[in-house]
Amino acid sequence: MKSIFLFLVCLMILSCHQNKKQVTMSKKIVIAHRGASGYLPEHTLEAKAMAHAMNADFIEQDLVLSKDNIPIVIHDIYLDDVTNVATIFPSRNRKDNRFYVIDFTFDELKTLQVTERFNPKTGEQVYKNRFPKGKGNFKIHSLQEEIELIQGLNTSTEKNIGIYPEIKAPEFHQKEGKNITEIVLKVLADYGYKTKKDNCILQCFNAQELERIRKELKSELFLVQLIEHPKQAKELKHFATYADGIGPWYKQILASKVKDQYSFTSLVSDAHQLGLKVHPYTFRADALAEFDTFEEMMQTILIDANVDGVFTDFPDVVINFLKENNNEY
Ligand code: G3P
Ligand code: CA
Repeated sequence: MKSIFLFLVCLMILSCHQNKKQVTMSKKIVIAHRGASGYLPEHTLEAKAMAHAMNADFIEQDLVLSKDNIPIVIHDIYLDDVTNVATIFPSRNRKDNRFYVIDFTFDELKTLQVTERFNPKTGEQVYKNRFPKGKGNFKIHSLQEEIELIQGLNTSTEKNIGIYPEIKAPEFHQKEGKNITEIVLKVLADYGYKTKKDNCILQCFNAQELERIRKELKSELFLVQLIEHPKQAKELKHFATYADGIGPWYKQILASKVKDQYSFTSLVSDAHQLGLKVHPYTFRADALAEFDTFEEMMQTILIDANVDGVFTDFPDVVINFLKENNNEY
């Protein structure tokens, strides 16, 4: 009897130890930014399927409402830099000469061709060496359709890849008489995304709206506060009252470079002290800015600055890099 009791105590200690190990050695996550958008036009189902095949931990969905209140997966409130809307509906622009997603029904949006991102004024492709603009047959899709793709692939491949939706421009939707947040939360809940255990991270740049999602709408999802301006770093304590993580622009983590050595702002350590995860955006192998190589960028921010995950257009490259670096620290 005594030995059985001792055996049970040992098992409990071992299991506590293993749980603790999981928390302290948490894996860095790779978020497929707009899908595998370095290889296929952003936010197409094809780019999402590719990201899934690459084993990204999460796949991102930027969300905007259609005229008939369907959450559409698209980066901007505009259509004219990733579709042929100006050719198909030439008179449907607003005074500012832009074509707005919210002015079109889902059925109308489905008639458009999606293409690699371009400058609508010049027609020039933004990332020159990516999928050729105007080629292929890509379509706009809804959040529901994307979730069904990812959940279906999770079933057929026995994976558990998460979703990482972003509510875009809630203040703009409000002015247009629409409540995007409540519509999105309902779709997420309908597909089983309700708590932090459900493999869904919800993000928003609008701090007031993200706080409302937690405090008024009582969402139990994992919430990430996106940060656009460096001065918002001063608000970390407040963010920690409702968010589980922050998503800063990666430059907000870099302080200076002296003799090839980067130093860092206190953003990551301050966030960690408050229990916030840090997922900076955006790692692009074909837009390196201050870095000489993509390898240097990954080493500097992912490893040296010790962030918890990253948004990238090239999930396969970051995954391989992390594998080579064991992805556990
Ligand atoms: O949402 C985080 C990341 O996607 C950066 O923002 O502008 O690409 O949606 P954006
Ligand atoms: Ca986004």
